[in-house]
Amino acid sequence: MSKVTVVGAGNVGATVANVLAHKDIVKEVVLLDIKGDMARGKALDSWQQAPIDYYSTSLVGTEDYADTANSDIVVITAGIPRRPGMSRDDLISTNAKIVTSVTKSIMKHSKNPIIIIVSNPLDVMTYAAHKASGLSDKRVFGMAGILDTARYRAFLATELNVSPKDLQAVLMGGHGDTMVPLPRYTTVAGIPVTEMIDKDKLKAIVNRTKKGGGELVKLMGTSAWYAPGAAAAQMVEAIVKNENRIFPCCARLNGEYGLKDMFLGVPVKLGANGIEEVLELKLNKSETKLLHKSADHVTAVMEVFNKMGVA
Ligand code: LAC
Repeated sequence: MSKVTVVGAGNVGATVANVLAHKDIVKEVVLLDIKGDMARGKALDSWQQAPIDYYSTSLVGTEDYADTANSDIVVITAGIPRRPGMSRDDLISTNAKIVTSVTKSIMKHSKNPIIIIVSNPLDVMTYAAHKASGLSDKRVFGMAGILDTARYRAFLATELNVSPKDLQAVLMGGHGDTMVPLPRYTTVAGIPVTEMIDKDKLKAIVNRTKKGGGELVKLMGTSAWYAPGAAAAQMVEAIVKNENRIFPCCARLNGEYGLKDMFLGVPVKLGANGIEEVLELKLNKSETKLLHKSADHVTAVMEVFNKMGVA
């Protein structure tokens, strides 16, 4: 049974811890935040839910990295969220320092953890954590694709008046407005979605998906947490249960799709060792063009990070 640390006890981190506890698949969840009492309070609140919702996963809140010792998996949600009018990239100056220092503190107490990044700007924060951790490519990756495809699938389920359970989809690229939903790889219970919806409606849903995070920031004044938290917990589950599930995740590319030395959303196989395999789809010309455009955008933000000289 595993030990999972979640760094950041804000809305997203607390949701990851709570959803994970409900799955009842790990021994212990440590919720760490610089605001130790907030972490302790949310962990205690979640633990007090255990007799009601029936789980045995224990929850501990702390501000002390010593309590994270020997974690198998670490989910990093630390950093500031977006406010209305901000892009995810606007967060880099604050979050790059936070994610780098959190990763280093984690590595002082756990030898070979798997690290899942949730902090934004996601693709570049994953790159930063990988660099700071010294871990293999297979053990540091980011959560974005599950969330973005979930939004896409939810919009399609509403439009088609079908259960969201029956929507399957792949989406690639950076976690930002340049992300690339792939209608050609979207099905409704195995039926190509293009047979069930007209082109303009599908296009509108693709566009709404790309701005899906921003839509919520506008509504709530801060970024989303239920779906992001559940998405990260689903990745932890795939690892803990060694499920070899296929998810879009932000992974390091080593030549796949003609891209390398960067982190970008691609379909991967997720199992006990983290990324067991990066799947290379046969994209057509226009899909490849969109993916490369998204990669260019992420590279530009990566360069901003590199120039910051955060170490
Ligand atoms: C969002 C944030 C978590 O997309 O990036 O809601």
